[in-house]
Amino acid sequence: PTKLIIDTDPGVDDAFAIALAALSDEVDLLGVTSVYGNVPLAATTINARRVLALCGRDDVPVAAGAQRPLVHRHPNEARYVHGADGLSGRSHALPEPSRPLDERDAVTLMADLLAASDEPVTIAPIGPLTNIAALLAAHPAAAEKIARIVIMGGALGHGNTTAAAEFNIWSDPEAAHRVLTGGEAPCVLVPMDLTYRCAVDAAWMTELGTSGPIGTALDALTPDYREHYRGALGWDGMVLHDAVAVAEAIRPGTLRTERVAVQVECSFGPGRGATYADRRLPALRAASAESETGAETEVAVDADLDQLRAQLLA
Ligand code: BDR
Ligand code: CA
Repeated sequence: PTKLIIDTDPGVDDAFAIALAALSDEVDLLGVTSVYGNVPLAATTINARRVLALCGRDDVPVAAGAQRPLVHRHPNEARYVHGADGLSGRSHALPEPSRPLDERDAVTLMADLLAASDEPVTIAPIGPLTNIAALLAAHPAAAEKIARIVIMGGALGHGNTTAAAEFNIWSDPEAAHRVLTGGEAPCVLVPMDLTYRCAVDAAWMTELGTSGPIGTALDALTPDYREHYRGALGWDGMVLHDAVAVAEAIRPGTLRTERVAVQVECSFGPGRGATYADRRLPALRAASAESETGAETEVAVDADLDQLRAQLLA
């Protein structure tokens, strides 16, 4: 099984992503770390613990991480997408966790889990990248144990938080820049361009809601989120961004990737948080200075959509 750590800001799609990993026999879920994001840290932390409790996974440690970005701004929020508590106002309906919150902070828990692992570990950051940047900065040796960092984030076309930027990258562009360009561990970026194409429809949600107690409980978290995406998509469906990235983290090759040079816009202005993928013709790229092309990373560009939707339901 894939050894996995999820770094998350639940968030409805985060809840689906956590459940996907927590219930998969292809995964050894070593730990879950929380970060501010869709809602403040206290809410994302309890949401992550409750989703694990729903899945009967109180064996998985949860540690709380950053409350705000590395350098600039107050934390961003997306209550208008996920509801005031991050789970459509239904967080309280989930079971209370029996396992206490880990006493370590998120970065220490990740570093300890990596140090203790005899195999490389995949990390799936599905919120702002603050904890991951802090891990790489504080624990250089930890990177040697990281198999891949599979990130939900970025927008190659238009953004969802600003015209240019996707939410997770916009929330902490400096952290995203650090992780994507540091070169310490291989990264896979799963941008919203692809996650939108993987949207699930009303029939999928009905199937989920009737699949058993866990599916019913997850479905109950979706009303606000589904309403938001009904507007964004123009049809009755939802975009499970984070679950798409975790599906790839669990089963490498689920998504088709291309090796592309990526840069993160960290200046202030309308482009802040944009991710630029350099897809110029090689001859034109070759003419640019290295600093203008960015660091190469895998970017997810395509998937077998039917197979993926089936995998998200399983
Ligand atoms: C990302 O932003 C958050 O609102 C979602 O949970 C996802 O991680 C999509 O842009
Ligand atoms: Ca998220």
